[in-house]
Amino acid sequence: FKQKTAYEIRLSLVGSEMCIRDRPKDIIMQITRRRLVQTGLAGATFGAPFVVRAQVARELKIGLITGPSHNWTQAMQSFSEALKKESGGRLSAAVFPAGQLGNEATMIQQMQTGALDMGFLTLAEFSNRNANFGAFFAPYLTRDVSHAAKVLKGKEAATVLDQLSDQGLAGLGFGLGGMRHVLSRAAAPNAAALKGKKFRITPFAPLRDFYQFAGIVPTPIPLPGLFDALANGQIDGADVDLELVWTLKLFQQAKHLVLTKHMMFPVVSVMSGRVFAGMSQPDRQLVRRVMAVELDKLFAKYAQAEGEWLTQIRGTGIEVLQVGREFFGDVASAWEKHWSPSAPSLPKLRAEAA
Ligand code: BEZ
Repeated sequence: FKQKTAYEIRLSLVGSEMCIRDRPKDIIMQITRRRLVQTGLAGATFGAPFVVRAQVARELKIGLITGPSHNWTQAMQSFSEALKKESGGRLSAAVFPAGQLGNEATMIQQMQTGALDMGFLTLAEFSNRNANFGAFFAPYLTRDVSHAAKVLKGKEAATVLDQLSDQGLAGLGFGLGGMRHVLSRAAAPNAAALKGKKFRITPFAPLRDFYQFAGIVPTPIPLPGLFDALANGQIDGADVDLELVWTLKLFQQAKHLVLTKHMMFPVVSVMSGRVFAGMSQPDRQLVRRVMAVELDKLFAKYAQAEGEWLTQIRGTGIEVLQVGREFFGDVASAWEKHWSPSAPSLPKLRAEAA
């Protein structure tokens, strides 16, 4: 009865004992009426076989790669508190930040087996597994985070979210990080100045291709290694957002920020398909509803914080160069031509964005 996935149970009265079928695992267990009293089910009226939804207490494990102070981690902490409140303390979540449970690829595998309940992950790893997710990284698809939020809450995004079920996952919704820019150790008045330089990228194909088309050497380094790679001179610069520049103090290592806004950077809330299927319908709805509220708060947070981070970064005295999409010349169209065949959602996302 205490099986984590035993949410929907079939009961039939056999003398003073109950026969319980744990549907997900097809386990039949005999338990006494006393156990039902202990578990709070004895108040039900028992007659012919019927189905009850057991109100099982549960703590969901959520994994992320971002550190404790990052807005994504804070959003999941807030989700945990809200879930506890809304479920009357029955459901909650324990948040494991900073890659404590492994990198994103490992966390996806854990969710596929049901060993991890939830993740709040970049779309990077998903685009490595299903190229259609690469559509979200089309250069200059969105103008800013407010525009990106609208696209990520749109119809085509919902269609792509559903495709996570092919990977044994349940998509709960998209959120986002800041727009992407270029941070360079040397002055970068134009893209030609970056040619042949080594720039850190988040390890995924759409971003790698963007840098390759720009003639910059893409150097895949996961987020936790970014500061050290800049500090020890392993790279000449990095693909970043303003939150990273400010909170990781990257401005101390590279003093030329080019505000290119060349991509948005979505995050997705996912749950193990197995775990989700094992929850009762009302619990699934509750999790979705509470998560939707947190994602909306996250969208609003970035819309406000982007300006604040920029002001703080400018205050450090580093060079901040504002550029338009001409900075990268025809890189965007080369990217689009290359990715269109493998990312069928791209035209619809572009149409919605427009
Ligand atoms: C990055 O790889 O740049 C990144 C990862 C997670 C959140 C924000 C940025």
